[in-house]
Amino acid sequence: MGIAQSLSRAADTVLDRTVVLGYTRVGSGLRSRWWPGDPAPDALAGRRVLVTGATSGIGEAAIEGYLALGATVHLLGRNAAKVEAAVAATSDPARVVGEVCDVGDLDDVRRWAADFTSRVPELAGLLHNAGTMTGQERVTSVQDHELSLAVHVLGPHLITGLLRAPLEAGAAAGGASVVWMSSGGMYSAKLEADDADDIEFRRGEYDGVRAYARTKRMQVVLADQWSRALAGTGVEVESMHPGWSGTPGVKQHLPRFEKLTRPFLRTPQDAADTAVWLVATRPASTSPHFWHDRAQRPVVFPGQSEPDRAAVARLVEHVVGATGMPLPG
Ligand SMILES: NC(=O)c1ccc[n+]([C@@H]2O[C@H](COP(=O)([O-])OP(=O)(O)OC[C@H]3O[C@@H](n4cnc5c(N)ncnc54)[C@H](OP(=O)(O)O)[C@@H]3O)[C@@H](O)[C@H]2O)c1
Repeated sequence: MGIAQSLSRAADTVLDRTVVLGYTRVGSGLRSRWWPGDPAPDALAGRRVLVTGATSGIGEAAIEGYLALGATVHLLGRNAAKVEAAVAATSDPARVVGEVCDVGDLDDVRRWAADFTSRVPELAGLLHNAGTMTGQERVTSVQDHELSLAVHVLGPHLITGLLRAPLEAGAAAGGASVVWMSSGGMYSAKLEADDADDIEFRRGEYDGVRAYARTKRMQVVLADQWSRALAGTGVEVESMHPGWSGTPGVKQHLPRFEKLTRPFLRTPQDAADTAVWLVATRPASTSPHFWHDRAQRPVVFPGQSEPDRAAVARLVEHVVGATGMPLPG
C-alpha cells in the first residue's frame, strides 16, 4: 500500500470514529477525494431498480441516482396520492413506475408482491429504504408487531423473500443487489440475549429511539444472514448507513437535532450515494457487508461486543415465524 493510500485510510478511520465529522457533509466531502470512482453513466441502462420509502428524503434522492444511470425505477410508498405526486416530480416520469404498498403491513406486502412479480420478471436492485420512528408510546402494525420492527425488519425480510425470483433472474442477466438502509444509530444498540428475549419491545418502558436503533441493528444482522442464504445465486446483499441528512423525516422526528446540526447535514443525494453506487457497481464485499461512503465499515466499535450468536438465531427464528418466509438454504 502506498503512503497516500495509507494516509487516506487512516483519515477515513478517524472520520468514522469521531462520528460527528464522518456522518456530516465533512465526511463525504473529504472521502469523495479518495473513494472508488463513479459508476459508468449507463451502468443501469435497461435495468430495473425498486426503492421503498421513496416518496421523501433519501429514497427520493436514490430514485434520481438510479434514473441518472439509465435504470427504470419502481418508486414505492404507502400513500397512493404521495406516490403519484412523487412520480410526477421525478426528472423522467416515463421511466418511473409508482408502487403502492405499506411495508409494515405483511398482508399488503404479500398482495403487492404477487402483483409486482407478475409484472416484473427481472430486478437489478432492491433498496430497503422505508423508515419510521415512533415516540414514547409503543405503536403496533396491522398484524400487531411493534411498528419499527414491522417496517424495518419484517416487511423488508418478506419482500426480499417474495422478490427472490426477479432478483435471481436479474443476477443472471447482469447482476442484482439488495441494499438495506440502516443507520449509524445501530452502533448504540446491541443484539444480546436480553434483546432477543424481547424482540417485540413488550418489556419495560418503551422508547421509540431505542426501538429504532435496535431494529436498525437487526437490519444489519439480517442483511448478513440473507447474504449467506443467497450465496451462489449471484444476488449480492449489503447494508449501509447514510450518515446524517436533513430529510423531512429527520425534521419531523428529531427537530432539535436537525436544528443544531443543520449547517453540517448531508444533502439527501449525498446520503443516497452509497446505495446507488452499490447497486450500480456491485463491489466485492465480505461479511458482515456493512457500508458507508463507498467503503465497508465495522459493525461494532472497538470495545463493543459483537452481536450474540444465539441472539441472532433467535431473531431469525422470530422473523421467519412472524412472516412465514424462511431463509433459503
Ligand atoms: N436522514 C438521516 O439522517 C438518516 C440517518 C440514518 C438512517 N436513515 C434511514 O434512511 C431511510 C430514509 O430516511 P429519510 O431520512 O429519508 O426519512 P423520510 O424523509 O421520513 O423518508 C422515509 C420514507 O419512508 C416511507 N415510509 C415510512 N413508513 C412506510 C411504510 N410502512 N411503508 C412504505 N413506506 C414507508 C415514508 O413515506 P410517508 O411519507 O408515507 O411516511 C417516506 O417516503 C430510513 O430507513 C432511515 O432510517 C436516515
